[in-house]
Amino acid sequence: MKILAIESSCDETACAVIEDGRTVLSNVISSQADLHHLFGGVVPEIASRKHIEAIVPVLRSGLAEAGLTWSDIDCLAVTCGPGLVGALLVGVSFAKGLASALQKPLVPVHHLAAHLAANYLHSPDLAPPFMALIVSGGHSHIVLVRDYCDFDILARTRDDAAGEAFDKISRALGLGYPGGPLIDALAATGDPQAVAFPKPNLADHSLDFSFSGLKTAALNELNRQQLQADPEAVRQGSYDPRLADFCSSYQHAVVSELAGHAVAACLAHQVRRLVLAGGVAANQGLRKLVTRLTVENRIELFIPPAQLCTDNAAMVGAMAYYCPQPAGLDRWDAKPSLDLETWSREQTQALVQRGRLASS
Ligand code: KG4
Ligand code: ZN
Repeated sequence: MKILAIESSCDETACAVIEDGRTVLSNVISSQADLHHLFGGVVPEIASRKHIEAIVPVLRSGLAEAGLTWSDIDCLAVTCGPGLVGALLVGVSFAKGLASALQKPLVPVHHLAAHLAANYLHSPDLAPPFMALIVSGGHSHIVLVRDYCDFDILARTRDDAAGEAFDKISRALGLGYPGGPLIDALAATGDPQAVAFPKPNLADHSLDFSFSGLKTAALNELNRQQLQADPEAVRQGSYDPRLADFCSSYQHAVVSELAGHAVAACLAHQVRRLVLAGGVAANQGLRKLVTRLTVENRIELFIPPAQLCTDNAAMVGAMAYYCPQPAGLDRWDAKPSLDLETWSREQTQALVQRGRLASS
């Protein structure tokens, strides 16, 4: 089964061809990050226009790189939400037109479920059940993955997402968008104990995340130290050492929360496998800390390579392989705030109706 997948939910236009849910035949990504960098964040209207410009060449490259023609493709897939409405609509409308012209089925895929599925590409034997920490620019979830499409969300963020926690501080420092990669690089050369940041403390001791207090403490600290950075100078390795200490301490505070809660969820639910996913899973500090904590607690860990953590279409094709095909193109549309649990329930119901799962 060869699936051609399209991703356009934020600032990457991407196309990939995936065979049998596990093998990447092509994976083409056109990023707009350099454009949005000027504005310190993604500008939705610019994102939509750039997707329209990029989608045809990216699709052609995706097919050519796989060495295939349209008649070799069995099925199409597209991210249907969550994301920026205009950006999603470019991918969804294009995919519907293509599916209709080619007379091929089209599978709508939840973006966070797709992030999870990046692990199926990297670890061919991985199968549910497992625990997952999904951390992206807009979401921070701990999810119990019971089956390929059956998810139980155990924790969410109550304010900023993990990626936002990096991007907002990056913007305040003058480092621009996206913030994660530069803070990660600076953090590697600094002292994680240099600044003592407060530990978020939710009154109900839940596994939920909260980063807004940490963000305020970080803004106060960078004002106190009068820290500002020039992204070009940082890229060339020339910067104030206090900047590296600040980034290292801040990153340590953020990733300690993420890693600590994810491991606590595994222990509380007696799940011995943890999967990391989403753009923030590319973070070196997070990867190192989760590796240490999972070894200490005898939990098996799965993390995709960094290029499969950030947005791509290969993960969409991997997830689509396990999803039911919807009844018709007019039955669904792009949904900018599509919830993962709602989507999971719909998928499971569709699978039950088709007799692929026992209704109990
Ligand atoms: O999953 P993703 O590519 O797009 C969304 O679905 O949002 O995640 C993008 C987020 C951005 O906030 C970016 O700053 C963050 O992932 N990110 C990182 C790193 N690379 C990307 N955060 C921390 N460390 C990184 N190395
Ligand atoms: Zn994403």
